[in-house]
Amino acid sequence: MRPGNLKTRIFLDGGDPGETREMLDLFGFVDGQTTNPSLISKNPEARARMERGEKFSESELLEFYEGVVRELAEMIPQGSVSIEVYADENTTAEHMIEQGREMFRWIPNAHIKLPTTAEGLKAAEMAIKDGIRINMTLCFSQEQAAAVYDATAGARKGDVFVSPFVGRLDDRGEDGMSLIDNILKMYRDGDGHAEVLTASVRSYDHLIYALKLESDIITAPFNAIKEWGNKGFPLPGHDYSYPSGNLKLLPYEHIDLKKRWTEFNIAHVLTDTGLAKFAADWNNLIQ
Ligand code: G3P
Repeated sequence: MRPGNLKTRIFLDGGDPGETREMLDLFGFVDGQTTNPSLISKNPEARARMERGEKFSESELLEFYEGVVRELAEMIPQGSVSIEVYADENTTAEHMIEQGREMFRWIPNAHIKLPTTAEGLKAAEMAIKDGIRINMTLCFSQEQAAAVYDATAGARKGDVFVSPFVGRLDDRGEDGMSLIDNILKMYRDGDGHAEVLTASVRSYDHLIYALKLESDIITAPFNAIKEWGNKGFPLPGHDYSYPSGNLKLLPYEHIDLKKRWTEFNIAHVLTDTGLAKFAADWNNLIQ
């Protein structure tokens, strides 16, 4: 059962509806789900197909993604399901929003994932005007989160998520959880329209510390949620201290949230490599 005093929404990060069913059967709740091209490429049906040497045509792959997302949405009717547009370094904002408009029609509870790049932020501005809910992905810096805040100004609370990827920062020796802490702190000066969705969670401690920081949402792979659930969903006490080991703390930057997003330095190498990897995993499925 979902702990009664849990404020943070818990999303499942994955592309396999079977896993979502298992989580519902085991624990009785899933507050939402996030997908991405790499997770879709790991979907058991997609993998079996690839093993048979049967790649998808572009339209078959989109139909397949739509089918997966529809299954998820039916299991989580009250929650949100994030669907990611295809984007590589050459994809324009117009092409992203075109895909986003189409994907947003797939299910009633979609958030459209756009990359936190200049084109992604332009697409975010258009999405908000169109009333399309969004999840800004591949966020690795406080300046990128500040840019998301401005690009989505005026959106309704609940319509905008920003997804900082903690595990990938840890992978290069930086403390990803300190970025969550910093963005939450920075957003406290704002109007609350953008919610922090802790992503790229790899461990039980990522999850527990994100709860302690009061991240609005956490998306985690099933194994991390299972570990937490099997322990009885404990919540962190005041004495919880995150074992950051040798990871380098990212210092808090004093950023004026009133600045235009175009004034921020939104470049980050992990955004670029992340975008390329998502595109490659998607393209690999296509004939
Ligand atoms: O939520 C984003 C997530 O799927 C990325 O996780 O482990 O590939 O960094 P990871």
